[in-house]
Amino acid sequence: MKIGIIGAGHVGLVTGACFADLGHQVMMVDDDRRKVAALRAGRVPFFEPGLEELVRRGMAHGRLRVTRAIPEAVDCSTLLFVCVGTPTRPNGEADLSAVETVTRRIARSMRAYRLVVEKSTVPVQTGAWMRRTLREMVRRGVDCDVASNPEFLREGCAIQDFLHPDRIVIGAESERARRLLVDLYTPFHAPLVVTDVSSAELLKHASNSFLALKISYINAVAQVCERVGADVVKVADGMGLDRRIGRAFLDAGVGWGGSCFSKDVAAFTRIATAHRCDASLLRAAAGINRRQRPYAVARLRRLLGPLRGRTVGVLGLAFKPDTDDLRDAPALDIVPKLRAAGARVRVFDPKAMPAAKKLLGRGVTFCRNAYEAARGADAVMLLTEWNEFKELDVTRMASLMRQPVVFDGRNLYDPAAMRRAGMRYAGIGRGQMQQTAHSTQHTEKAGKKR
Ligand code: UDX
Repeated sequence: MKIGIIGAGHVGLVTGACFADLGHQVMMVDDDRRKVAALRAGRVPFFEPGLEELVRRGMAHGRLRVTRAIPEAVDCSTLLFVCVGTPTRPNGEADLSAVETVTRRIARSMRAYRLVVEKSTVPVQTGAWMRRTLREMVRRGVDCDVASNPEFLREGCAIQDFLHPDRIVIGAESERARRLLVDLYTPFHAPLVVTDVSSAELLKHASNSFLALKISYINAVAQVCERVGADVVKVADGMGLDRRIGRAFLDAGVGWGGSCFSKDVAAFTRIATAHRCDASLLRAAAGINRRQRPYAVARLRRLLGPLRGRTVGVLGLAFKPDTDDLRDAPALDIVPKLRAAGARVRVFDPKAMPAAKKLLGRGVTFCRNAYEAARGADAVMLLTEWNEFKELDVTRMASLMRQPVVFDGRNLYDPAAMRRAGMRYAGIGRGQMQQTAHSTQHTEKAGKKR
């Protein structure tokens, strides 16, 4: 098929490169001159495992081309995927200005039937607006359709998620639109959910919000674990064996970051509120997540005492491993809070250092590896569970530190192993609170009363 992709971001570029690799003819469009130049030179302007190789292969085989002109893509493509950003406005609403601009430009360029496909995450009923706008603007006699085909790609494993999805969601109003998308996706051999546009749009917001809800739920359970001396990792393992619950997204930690969860939960909250529905669950999830960041700093203060004059080594800045993406990363909140408390901060991240240098600014020492970040530190704070941090020589790290203290913001480490290496270790929800002298006496007294 001939496919146009409008927007060469994390979603658009993965979608276009994968379709090209599957043999389709793809025209990628982006209005960023530098990004287009980089792509034409075979460079991808962000880190996503395997993507740069896929882009180069597509361009070498002539199946992936890049342009800044939407009319060029409209002329040579039957399907046009809209993959532009829908950032959050200050009031929580999704900013659809890019979607609106692109829709109008497509309409003005259309000379023959085109199927315009929403891949960007948009509020429900955006497709209805797009369809009205296209039909008002296209030349007389030119037919068009709008469909919704939301993505469920996770950064760091986006190509895997695209090629081997749990399900493919198709929201379409006409048989012609349905047929085009079913034919496109049948070779994926994944379950197809074929429905109307609004259900497909809502399915995306509902899915992401549920995943966010799951994370905040386990973080709330972790707080109880710390008070009663339970281990949230064991609790989550036991919960997850129930197939109705599932283990994924039950990892307690400093909470979610990234370009999607906060945005989608805020947008879904706005949609529910606008339709006078109960958005309290969504607000609660967002609130718990927001509070995880200052909570992490408070936990470190409980470990170290006053932070003024202390040195903290931060391991991991990206919002998750296998990406250089710092959008809404917990580290972007936590590092400034450490600085504001008077701590000296040393940081290391395997991929996100160039971006971090632009964002974290003065007063932070950027290190070349985890051991350098730990050198002379009163504590190490792990915020991103990169694989390479799993293999660190903990004894060597402890020997470099002024005090052997670790706050494990992603429960990456085994508390017993850390203690055997001489570390004072605190995770999130690992029952440390119970193990201090005071709280043990407290529990014994409580036990006598019963
Ligand atoms: C998410 C959705 O998973 C994906 O389906 C959607 O298309 C885009 O948004 P992404 O944000 O790339 O993907 O990464 P994800 O793996 O979902 O992690 C999001 C954040 O949640 C990360 O900061 C991660 O550290 C955090 N997280 C994830 C937890 O804190 N606990 C968990 O158990 C899982």
